[in-house]
Amino acid sequence: MKKYAVIGNPIGQSLSPAMHNAAFKELGVDAHYEALEVEKLDRAYDFLKKNFAGINVTIPHKVGILEYVDEKEMAVDLIGAANCIEFGKTANAYNTDMYGAIEALKTEVPKLKGKRVLVLGAGGAARAIVYGCALEGAEVSLYNRTVEKANELAKDVRTKLGKDIRVLRKPELKGLDILVNATSIGMTPNANESPLDSIPKIVVMDIVYNPLDTKFLKQAKAAGARTINGVEMFVQQGAESLRIWGYKPPIEVMREAVLKELKEK
Ligand code: ATR
Repeated sequence: MKKYAVIGNPIGQSLSPAMHNAAFKELGVDAHYEALEVEKLDRAYDFLKKNFAGINVTIPHKVGILEYVDEKEMAVDLIGAANCIEFGKTANAYNTDMYGAIEALKTEVPKLKGKRVLVLGAGGAARAIVYGCALEGAEVSLYNRTVEKANELAKDVRTKLGKDIRVLRKPELKGLDILVNATSIGMTPNANESPLDSIPKIVVMDIVYNPLDTKFLKQAKAAGARTINGVEMFVQQGAESLRIWGYKPPIEVMREAVLKELKEK
């Protein structure tokens, strides 16, 4: 049996085992996926490489894991973090968050080239979304509470891709096609919070999936916007991990498994 895992700390609430095991069951493959709490990578790495065919990596190890791997795909170099490793003769690092964000956006906007996107936030999730949108040829602007972090991200994109990201001092909503919340605002236990007071009738995506129907998405729906919830990016990054490990992801089954798990948790 092939073994896979998500490593992180804390890891108890992870939705990944339910999603991936549902996929393996649907595909009829002899594989199992578990959640492993890893405090120190240096002690765990050899064990992981020996016993697992692949792992997903989450907080706090997405950057630290890079010291151990042999190969890194382009997205890993751009974002400076990996969330998926394939163990074979070599250990290969991928970042499927970027791909997941783009696939999630494409469920509502198939062609991102030329689209005006505002990303709220400048943390790890925002990085993946900003890089993905910039690579797709979208016009990206960025707003973050801490403007220095937004400036750093914009500078990084300019250096690595030669593309300009507009950093805003306050959110500018006029003329936008897509609005993305990549902050943790609105996440349980702060479900009554939203990053904005009013939201335009455009395409609106939230990375927060707990609650699934965030205040931000409720406001967006009330404004008549088309919405993409946080489960979509999560499922799409998981689907890309499965492709990397050599499987054809049953996306519908994976989405259902995540939604079921969220309802139960
Ligand atoms: P992740 O890796 O999931 O993106 P992160 O790196 O901690 O998480 O980033 C969280 C993002 O949410 C940041 O952009 C943060 O803004 P700051 O850079 O100013 O800290 C944003 N954020 C979180 N809580 C916020 C709040 N109450 N108001 C405004 N922004 C908030």
